[in-house]
Amino acid sequence: QVAGLGEAVDALRGARRVLVLSGAGMSAESGVPTFRDAQTGLWEQVDPTDLATPEAWEQDPPYVWAWYAWRIGRLRAVQPNAGHRALAELAAYREVSIATQNVDDLHERAGSTVLAHVHGSLTDLRCSDCATPHVGPVEVPEDPVERLEPPSCGECGGDVRPGVVWFGEMLPARALAETTAAIEALTEGDVVLVVGTSGVVYPAAGFPAMARAEGATVIEVNPTETEVSDVCDLRLRGTAAQVLPRLVAAITG
Ligand code: APR
Ligand code: ZN
Repeated sequence: QVAGLGEAVDALRGARRVLVLSGAGMSAESGVPTFRDAQTGLWEQVDPTDLATPEAWEQDPPYVWAWYAWRIGRLRAVQPNAGHRALAELAAYREVSIATQNVDDLHERAGSTVLAHVHGSLTDLRCSDCATPHVGPVEVPEDPVERLEPPSCGECGGDVRPGVVWFGEMLPARALAETTAAIEALTEGDVVLVVGTSGVVYPAAGFPAMARAEGATVIEVNPTETEVSDVCDLRLRGTAAQVLPRLVAAITG
């Protein structure tokens, strides 16, 4: 049993709105490695913060594209976990909005619809020169490869890039506006679930404190202490797939 679950259930019972702030830990039990835990395979030697940058892309597009193509391919092999499904189910009982830092589509595939990707989406491809969206299938390697030519833009022949936010880049204005609106709509008694984020990347890491300032009860779901634990009212030291189904079942049972 996870300490604090009873208090969290009481808070959720009394809430009208629930804002979920999810990070890589939300998808860990689906088999998608988090960023700051040991990466497996080819990419374990490189630090994502070196790869997920405009500089890395400018320097060697095929090297950066190979990493993203492999991640896109791996996404096709994984499924939403019980945590994703619990959040989708909760939306039938509370007004749920999700702001995710994740670039995977697992919240969508579990059935969540009110969702903002503040760091973009892996599968939103666009031309790195003229920004034309690139639709259609992309060749993804079975196993991680060192380099892979990115697709070419149908309009200008430029290199196609993933629609994710790289370090130093602006967050998508619409996703940021939706998240800010969801935070400002919170009132006393509403609940924020901060799930699976280390709280080290801003501005997303500032969302829990903003939500608390609106009077919401901020509940962290994470097996370990994080940079945002101290702004949370409750800290459930368990995993997304262990804790979220129990939380939701307690108010929907
Ligand atoms: N359930 C819940 N939390 C988990 C689980 C799990 N099964 N497994 C790991 N965690 C927690 C870890 O304890 C850690 O606090 O998830 C968090 C993952 O932290 P990060 O890997 O730093 O992921 P995240 O916080 O989403 O990173 C933020 O950094 O690399 C950039 O843009 C990228 O969006 C990403 C951002
Ligand atoms: Zn183009």
